[in-house]
Amino acid sequence: MTGIQACGDYLQAAKQIAVLTGAGVSKESGIPTFRDAMEGLWTKFDPTQLATRRAFDANPKQVWDFYEYRRELMRPAQPNPGHFALAALQKRFPTLRIITQNIDDLHERAGSTDVIRLHGKISQNKCIANCQGDPTLVDVSQLTWDKSSGPPACPQCGQYVRPDVVWYGEMLPHTQLERAKALLEITDVIMVVGTSGLVSPSAEMPRRVKEHGGVVIEVNPDYSMITRIANLKLEGASGVMLPQVVVALGDK
Ligand code: OAD
Repeated sequence: MTGIQACGDYLQAAKQIAVLTGAGVSKESGIPTFRDAMEGLWTKFDPTQLATRRAFDANPKQVWDFYEYRRELMRPAQPNPGHFALAALQKRFPTLRIITQNIDDLHERAGSTDVIRLHGKISQNKCIANCQGDPTLVDVSQLTWDKSSGPPACPQCGQYVRPDVVWYGEMLPHTQLERAKALLEITDVIMVVGTSGLVSPSAEMPRRVKEHGGVVIEVNPDYSMITRIANLKLEGASGVMLPQVVVALGDK
């Protein structure tokens, strides 16, 4: 039996499927990952200078400009066959839920619904003080400010506006994390797609499923921290492997 067929069999036998995704799933859409040699974002930029609260407080313009740069990188991106395949799997298995570490919106644009977002959404901004409650979203397209000076001010309280993403050292959005935890307790098959498994708490999620007897299926062309606990590995790009899983399931 091929890995693809085995994956299909696991999915069909599952009562609850979860899919944990990382930057790798969006790589074929042209969005760089964080840690891939050469192209990875963190091989070119230092996250401690660009993706922490301390960095923002020290130099808000630098951090704001970094996220504007990433928005520019993401602007032309379209969902790839991997995103579409996951949406097709959710149609077939309606209780399937995606937990993503990605801050792009490509899962939703491919048709996936009810996506659990652990690291926020780069297309949104919020008041750094969350002055009207967490999160206080701010639509910057409605604001005019000197863009060369960095982030705009919150129209409610005057403090800075920041991207609605999770920075290093910050808590994950409470509701999203609780949803993910509850899902994992009842998950018997987790597919882990395009993540190095180096960042907590996402990295521990597949292990949690395994601990209570569930199956871990990894989709990744390279070795990762997930590989050692995976029951099955589809070794290849998600845009290549996941559509094959959909085809293999056919009308079964
Ligand atoms: P990484 O850059 O750490 O890992 C990307 C993974 O995708 C690697 O294991 C690659 O082998 C794999 N990969 C590359 N191309 C692929 C493809 N076409 N199909 C499938 N897999 C592929 O990215 P993440 O694990 O997502 O957090 O990183 C986790 C977190 O670290 C991010 O959410 C971000 C970062 O710092 C924050 O910014 C808070």
